[in-house]
Amino acid sequence: MLPADAPLSHLGPPALLLLQLLLPPTTAFFPNIWSLLAAPGSITHQDLTEEAALNVTLQLFLEQPPPGRPPLRLEDFLGRTLLADDLFAAYFGPGFPSRRFRAALGEVSRANAAQDFLPTSRNDPDLHFDAERLGQGRTRLVGALRETVVAAALDHTLARQRLGAALHALQDFYSHSNWVELGMQQPHPHLLWPRQELRSLAQVDDPTCSDCEELSCPGNLLGVTLLTSGYFGTHPSKPPGKCSHGGHFDQSSSQPPRGGINKDSTSPGFSPHHMLHLQAAKLALLASIQAFSLLRNRLGDRGFSRLLDITPASSLSFVLDTTGSMGEEINAAKIQARHIVEQRRGSPMEPSHYVLVPFHDPGNCVLAGIVQGSPGQG
Ligand SMILES: *[C@@H]1O[C@H](CO)[C@@H](O)[C@H](O)[C@H]1NC(C)=O
Repeated sequence: MLPADAPLSHLGPPALLLLQLLLPPTTAFFPNIWSLLAAPGSITHQDLTEEAALNVTLQLFLEQPPPGRPPLRLEDFLGRTLLADDLFAAYFGPGFPSRRFRAALGEVSRANAAQDFLPTSRNDPDLHFDAERLGQGRTRLVGALRETVVAAALDHTLARQRLGAALHALQDFYSHSNWVELGMQQPHPHLLWPRQELRSLAQVDDPTCSDCEELSCPGNLLGVTLLTSGYFGTHPSKPPGKCSHGGHFDQSSSQPPRGGINKDSTSPGFSPHHMLHLQAAKLALLASIQAFSLLRNRLGDRGFSRLLDITPASSLSFVLDTTGSMGEEINAAKIQARHIVEQRRGSPMEPSHYVLVPFHDPGNCVLAGIVQGSPGQG
């Protein structure tokens, strides 16, 4: 039951029922737009994932100017919500559809949100940086990113799923740990890079939280300088003196020390540290941008563009008049063709097929060859 003064108590039973269906029993940043009914103004996993992807896609577009079109200008995009349609129109031309890109991004976002619903992932503290399992959490996160890179060459659906899972954990770190409360203004420098040690972790016998009987618990962390995270539910059970995740769904938070430290939402009913939600979301966004950039780096621009379906699956055709009398023009055309190919190579505009169609005077046109990928690379 909700306490009488919970922010949701003005909602009638049907709305509450709806919320219980929509909100997973473990919560992180809320998974998607539907769960915002519970805490309007909260930033969801889906928001973070999409904004980060658009940010890095814009970065790619700025660094790889579109062949034959005016380069994009950063000023045109600063200070407003990035939209896939705007980015694609600026890069590929007005009206160019961003549908496939949005669908790919949807797959990543849905896989991210699913981490809170699927029986295999929702109660595993390692996948949410819960229960002080920070080292284990990082190992799983780095593993999921590595699997994304491997799968990107073979199976985009699998790669997008692994990426969604990795981003979910990464974003949870900022709302489930006390990184923000430690006064940190930047993402954790070692979460994505496993060779660095995660330092200053609270040990099992370091008490971290005091009892808090209110919904809001702004001062319940015990002057901690060590990194910790909240325990959720009963797996594993909360040792004495440790922080809970907190909120309506967390059984552990009714055992002393009561309360909790999560920053998943703006709602005190779900998030005892709701006042730090926006700070946590800001760091989660920066970290997500780092993760997409890392992926772009590992896959190359071409691989990254394929993974997110940025590249239009297109063919580039060259039709050459090979009639004997055209010798000089053929050479000029070859140079032109080479130039066109070079401009696109490795960029989001690189076509997936090249088609060469020679024809000569007396008539018939022969399809000479279709080359998959860059000519000259294989
Ligand atoms: C992309 O993210 C960076 C932060 O990493 C920010 O400085 C930049 O303004 C963002 N770009 C846009 C167009 O919002």
